[in-house]
Amino acid sequence: MNVSNPNFMDKSMREVVEFRFACKHFDAAKKIEDGVLHELLDLTRLSPSSYGVQPWKFIVVKNEGLKNALLPACYNQPQITEASCVVVMCSEMDLAGENGLLKKYVAKSKEDLGYSDEESANFENMLSNSLLSKSSEELKCWAQKQIYLAGMSLMIAAAEKGIDSCPMEGFESAKVSEVLGLSQNVLPTLIVPLGYRNMEQPKKTRFDFDVVVEERK
Ligand SMILES: Cc1cc2nc3c(=O)[nH]c(=O)nc-3n(C[C@H](O)[C@H](O)[C@H](O)COP(=O)(O)O)c2cc1C
Repeated sequence: MNVSNPNFMDKSMREVVEFRFACKHFDAAKKIEDGVLHELLDLTRLSPSSYGVQPWKFIVVKNEGLKNALLPACYNQPQITEASCVVVMCSEMDLAGENGLLKKYVAKSKEDLGYSDEESANFENMLSNSLLSKSSEELKCWAQKQIYLAGMSLMIAAAEKGIDSCPMEGFESAKVSEVLGLSQNVLPTLIVPLGYRNMEQPKKTRFDFDVVVEERK
């Protein structure tokens, strides 16, 4: 099996999941086609989120100069510059107010799902009561959880296409924000370099099934 073939498709879920690993070295010369990358991000966009709010922004970095600038903010982990591109998965924290995400989400739901004015108002109230009563630290934590689900979608979608990835928390968020010129409401949460492996896939170490799965009868 040619594991770095971009046309690696029609695989079982087991093959896709086993293909994925935290890739430490990418072949810097092999680039992901734009159309394929677009499809990966489009699939990532379909990830589930709490109340469906999608508190995220995905910043894609292909530019070599920008990747080089990100490197020191990511503890010089080589994936950043070797990967074809780096997806900086951010938590969108601008929820409240007229231009906040909640209002935008309610408007989009109305458009897509045909909510009446009353249904929209009720939906907005429910969202505001549930979310805006949280402290900013709680909200940050809430938003970050959604990013991890989207991150897994991205990595699985990539693996299905024979594209390697690495989930990365090893970075200094403030420095990444500065390099990318992000607003203070957009918080880098998980970085996922994508590309083609330039290393052997290591053996996995996982606890046995019966250690982590318990059935209650
Ligand atoms: C949230 C999270 C953060 C991680 N951060 C890094 C990182 O900064 N650098 C890195 O090389 N690997 C990172 N990893 C990769 C893990 O070490 C790896 O997923 C784990 O050892 C299991 O190996 P596997 O993914 O190859 O199966 C991270 C993984 C997760 C889930």
